Formats: sequence, C-alpha cells, structure tokens
Amino acid sequence: MAKQSKLRLGIVGIGNMGKSHIANIVNGSVPSVELTAICDSDAAALKAYPDYAHYDDSKKMIRSGEVDAILVATPHYDHTTIGIDGLKAGLHVLVEKPLAVHKADAERMIAAYNKRPNKKQQFGAMFNQRTDRRYQKIKELVESGEIGELQRVNWIITTWYRTQTYYNSGGWRATWAGEGGGVLLNQCPHQLDLIQWLCGKPSKVNATIGIGKYHDIEVEDEVTAFLEYPNGATGVFITSTGEAPGTNRLEIVGTKGKLVADGPGLTFWRNRETTDKHLATSPNGFGTPECWKCDVPVGGGGGQHSEILENFAQACLGKAKLMAPAVEGINGVELACAMLYSGFTGKPVDLPMNGAVYERHLKKLIKDAAAKPKRRKAKAKTKKAASSDFDNSF
Ligand SMILES: NC(=O)c1ccc[n+]([C@@H]2O[C@H](COP(=O)([O-])OP(=O)(O)OC[C@H]3O[C@@H](n4cnc5c(N)ncnc54)[C@H](O)[C@@H]3O)[C@@H](O)[C@H]2O)c1
Repeated sequence: MAKQSKLRLGIVGIGNMGKSHIANIVNGSVPSVELTAICDSDAAALKAYPDYAHYDDSKKMIRSGEVDAILVATPHYDHTTIGIDGLKAGLHVLVEKPLAVHKADAERMIAAYNKRPNKKQQFGAMFNQRTDRRYQKIKELVESGEIGELQRVNWIITTWYRTQTYYNSGGWRATWAGEGGGVLLNQCPHQLDLIQWLCGKPSKVNATIGIGKYHDIEVEDEVTAFLEYPNGATGVFITSTGEAPGTNRLEIVGTKGKLVADGPGLTFWRNRETTDKHLATSPNGFGTPECWKCDVPVGGGGGQHSEILENFAQACLGKAKLMAPAVEGINGVELACAMLYSGFTGKPVDLPMNGAVYERHLKKLIKDAAAKPKRRKAKAKTKKAASSDFDNSF
C-alpha cells in the first residue's frame, strides 16, 4: 500500500487562531497537511470556508472518518475534553497553548495519551516559539555546557499590555470559569514553556500576583515569581498586562558566562575562566574573569505556527520527531498553577505540586466569582478582541 503523503486534519475552534491555521494551510506553508474538516460550536464561524466538511460538534468530527488528526483551537478548558476524546478515538492530537488550564487536567490528558489505542498516535502542543532560532540556540548553548552550571535565570516579559477594552470584549476571556486565569494562562504559556525547556524544572515557586490590579477583571494581570532550582540556581519571572512600554528580556547566567536576549539578537558574555574557579583562586579582591562579548548568530524567528503544524503532520506520517510533545506541556501549566497558588496563599509551593489541591482551589475561585456581582463596568460594544496573543516583541 502506498504511504499516505498528507495528514488529513480537522480543526476544532474556528476563531482567531483556527482561522490563522487555515490561512497557513491555504497559503502552502504546511505542505504535509490536507485540511478536510472544520468544527465550531458556532455554525456562523464556518461559513467562510465552504471547501471543508463542517461540524458543530467535535465528537461527530472525530468519529466522521474524515480526519486522522485534530488541532484543538478552542478556549482552554475544552482542550482537555476534546483532546482526550480525540486520543481515545485513536486520532493524532495537536493542542493549542496552554495544554490545559490546570495540572490535574493536563495529567488526565497525558493519562489518555498513555492509554492510546494506537501506539503510533502523536500528541503535540502548539508551542510555536520553540521554532524561534534564538531559543533553539539558547537551548543548545545551555545543554552543551557552554554557559557552565546554571546560576540564575531572569525573564521580564511585560510586553503583553492589554486595555480594558480588550478584556471587555467578553466571551471566555479573563475569567476563572472561562479561561482559568489571566496573563499566565492566556499570554504567558509560551514563556512558561520556554523557561522550563531552556533551564529545566524549578523545585520551588514563590509568587506575588496582582488580581485585577490594573484592569476590572477577576483574574491576574501582574505576576512576580521567584523560582528555585534543584541545583540551587534561582530565577525571577515577571509579567504584566498593565505596564507600558513593556520589556522582553531573558537573561541566563551560568558559571561560564551570561546569555542575554533583549531586543533583536542574542548576546553571550563569555567568561574565559569559570566564576567558581576564579572567585576561589583569584589573588585580586575585586577583579572579574576576563569576559568576551559575543554576538551569537541566530538565524531568524523560525516558522512559528506553520512549522509546528508541519512538524506535527510529519511526525504523524512517521517522517519526523515532535518538536513540542504535549506531554511536556504539563510543565508550563504546573508553573502557572504554582505561581497562582503561591500568590493566593502567600506561601511557597514545592514542585511537583498536587494537581488535585489546585483544582479544588480553582473551583472555589469559580464559585466565588459566580457569587459576586459582575465587576465589569463598560460592557463590550466594541469588536471582538484582536488575534493579538502573539508575542511579536523580539
Ligand atoms: N499559539 C498561539 O500563538 C496562540 C495565539 C492566540 C490564541 N491561542 C490559543 O488558541 C485558542 C483559541 O484562541 P482564540 O483567540 O482563537 O479564541 P476565539 O475565542 O477567537 O475562538 C475560539 C473558537 O472556538 C469556538 N468554540 C468554543 N468552544 C467550542 C467547542 N467546544 N467546540 C467547537 N468550537 C468551540 C468558538 O465558537 C470560537 O469560534 C486558545 O487556547 C488560545 O490560548 C494560541
């Protein structure tokens, strides 16, 4: 039998992101995908695309025989239910970020994947920023030992400024029930994935969070988190949707030097002698190790969403290894949950954290929010929020 050359894909959720994926497929950026079906619970969302089979229920599309794989681009909570349904039905599944709203849901998805009926099924996550050549280079430098032993990581990612109008655009955004959080769940999943992809998983998280600090919303719009790593390294992760002009600066320090991604490019401040050796043996009380400033050639921002989708399709066709396996998506989700839980309790959270405890906490937040009078003052008469949850600041 001839080998299948294209993956028959169905997209669930034809909103901002679903439309963007369709555009990438139509413009030829994802050659290994044949889009066969689209699904949205709002039938009006499908009208613009007469060339594909239409479904208003993902269950029907999953069992239609028309798709080998689904891409889930719905609001966050449905990533879990639809993702699990697809996995159980034997389909390949690619899930938009975040993998899930909270750790227990991510665990349920991974459990379904581990019990998948067909061992060849692929389970990917849309972590498109992993295709950015700069992050790939940072990963290569960290993993190869070029920066020595990790001592500190700082990420200030405050280029997520959003207005009240954005939040007032309604729907599922900026609510515990609809979205499961604020800036950590909507804007930051990429950075939360990358920070653990580049530097590994922290063992402890301590955070201060601002709940509706700048906006009339019930979820967090500012976070400052302190991270501790198993080797004693520390980290600080700062994000906000209420600060302008924003900063996107990633700084990773090791015993052999410092990597800085701030604005375009990547700088490696390379120590000729490791700091641990220098500080123990230098006869000089104040000198620092000789350091060379290196402009690291990076090579562009990568293919982003198209590249992840093409890689997923190729993995499903048995031609490639997944760049962003969904089982790794739990790490960023856990970081978000730990930051929120620490912020609410005022206590540090040891990782791995208990997903069930956080799920109970989230359910209480949802219940409390439902009991409160609506906080939002100016109800949306404006157009739907723009598809601007991309970080274009690098
Ligand atoms: N990777 C990225 O860079 C990126 C960027 C933006 C958004 N996203 C993610 O994409 C997802 C969707 O975001 P969006 O901005 O497109 O939202 P959106 O609100 O514009 O679109 C969501 C669509 O899903 C539909 N929908 C809701 N529940 C459904 C269900 N159960 N079955 C079928 N359809 C359903 C809605 O009718 C809507 O058309 C979110 O998870 C978001 O975090 C990712």
